[in-house]
Amino acid sequence: MAAPRVLLAGWWFAVAAVAAAGVDALGVNWGTMSTRRLPPKVIARLLTDNGFRKVKIFDADERTMKGLAGTGIETMIAVPNDMLAAVADYDRARQWVKDNVTKYTFDGGVNIKFVAVGNEPFLKAYNGSFDHVTVPALKNIQRALDEAGHGAAVKATVPVNADVYDSPASNPVPSAGRFRGDVAGVMTNMVRFLNRSGAPLTVNIYPFLSLYGDADFPLDFAFFDGGGGSAKPVVDGRVVYTNVFDANFDTLVSALRRVGLGHLPVMIGEVGWPTDGDRHATAALAERFYAGLLKRLAARRGTPLRPGARIEVYLFGLIDEDAKSVAPGNFERHWGIFTFDGRPKFPLDLRGGGDGRPAMPVPARGVEYLPRRWCVLNHISAGGGDDDDATAGGRVADNVGYACSRADCTALGYGCSCGALDARGTASYAFNAYYQAQGQVESACDFQGLAVVVHDDASQGACNFSVQVVGSGAPVAAEVTTVAAVLVLVPLFLVLL
Ligand SMILES: *[C@@H]1O[C@H](CO)[C@@H](O)[C@H](O)[C@H]1NC(C)=O
Ligand SMILES: *[C@@H]1O[C@H](CO)[C@@H](O)[C@H](O)[C@H]1NC(C)=O
Ligand SMILES: *[C@@H]1O[C@H](CO)[C@@H](O)[C@H](O)[C@H]1NC(C)=O
Ligand SMILES: *[C@@H]1O[C@H](CO)[C@@H](O)[C@H](O)[C@H]1NC(C)=O
Repeated sequence: MAAPRVLLAGWWFAVAAVAAAGVDALGVNWGTMSTRRLPPKVIARLLTDNGFRKVKIFDADERTMKGLAGTGIETMIAVPNDMLAAVADYDRARQWVKDNVTKYTFDGGVNIKFVAVGNEPFLKAYNGSFDHVTVPALKNIQRALDEAGHGAAVKATVPVNADVYDSPASNPVPSAGRFRGDVAGVMTNMVRFLNRSGAPLTVNIYPFLSLYGDADFPLDFAFFDGGGGSAKPVVDGRVVYTNVFDANFDTLVSALRRVGLGHLPVMIGEVGWPTDGDRHATAALAERFYAGLLKRLAARRGTPLRPGARIEVYLFGLIDEDAKSVAPGNFERHWGIFTFDGRPKFPLDLRGGGDGRPAMPVPARGVEYLPRRWCVLNHISAGGGDDDDATAGGRVADNVGYACSRADCTALGYGCSCGALDARGTASYAFNAYYQAQGQVESACDFQGLAVVVHDDASQGACNFSVQVVGSGAPVAAEVTTVAAVLVLVPLFLVLL
């Protein structure tokens, strides 16, 4: 019976290789900036159920690591920006590796493949705060990995924002790409080091942000099916670019060529499309974006400057995070391919068949919800009483402002999923968001007597009034950044209530 068994093994090998062809490069970012977090084990199962074999996290949080332990999922852990200065000291870097890598390196531990040293440390918005510590930190972490015996299996890299390179305004084509002036020296040192250590460079590329940031940006150019669309292609010598992803990636390749490292491997640390918080952030456009992206990854088309290259990609992101800073825009809390509670938003071809037959991803299993209760504006107390209309409206507006400064109201913006609610609906949405974020404690549905708990789903049309999950770990407070949006709403109350 030996011969058939060998044959069988060979057959299995072939099948596995075919099945993995498209999938092997696909990873996803798992962020935890949520007021109430799903248990890490639920998330780990969501990953494996959907065929993700790689994940990128933003720290080395013990609870997250315990969730990943034993799953075999290849993991990129991270040194957050606020620790870069510390690990620029070698003893601390060695301690970091001992605590956050060695500790998990055992049978049934975490399959750590990369350490991200910082997260977009050279972003213009940081004003150079991390320019001098990032490369020393990178070198220390890699040296500490090497000395602890992990060096062959675990590589240190730095995820950079796509704003570390550009083309001159006088010649805005990918082949003219170069590192941004103020970080050119640091970037050059860094990529030389990555080349020596055998690590890839990691870059985050967001076609959505190109569109968001430029009113004249041609919509079709953000997608991979834009060739025949209305977007005018970018002609660069003999190369024609029909989408911004390729153009952006090749600008980086040109910048690398300029410093003699045109072949340095490049991974995409983040790429994705949000589904709410902006008029272009919709499930339909996200579906279109991912369909094009996943199809071309499966086909291994590479880009014009790296034809046929296999590009390793981490999607951004896994689930919506309602406590992320909205400084970049209200869409920040809506990047998930799953909702905050692990429900898929749109079909996509995660298995990487590239056959153009996307399917709805598998929802999270074992999610525990708070009771089916909502907090809404009490129509009687808001409209009646001795207050005149303007006073009542002002009181509601103040309370909405309070709720939205502590919970997520980003769906209320113009063109967003709850943007069409009237003033009463808006107030109810805000009260409910706060009540849920606070774990439905009774005191969180008062708002000076304006609010009441109801037991019928208060959702209105496409606008979902969520019931939160039981959640694990300490809740993260939502950042107080929606004040501007709230101020815009105030006049509405004075008119409508
Ligand atoms: C290991 O990582 C955790 C989580 O990111 C962090 O809190 C801790 O300080 C790190 N350990 C060291 C020694 O820096
Ligand atoms: C960067 O500089 C701008 C303008 O000077 C300032 O508003 C911003 O807070 C600074 N950011 C950081 C992270 O230092
Ligand atoms: C890249 O690494 C290779 C092998 O380690 C080395 O031979 C080469 O000189 C490096 N290139 C640069 C530009 O540092
Ligand atoms: C709203 O959320 C609930 C669970 O929180 C879900 O069952 C329902 O399908 C959602 N509705 C919409 C329109 O997304």
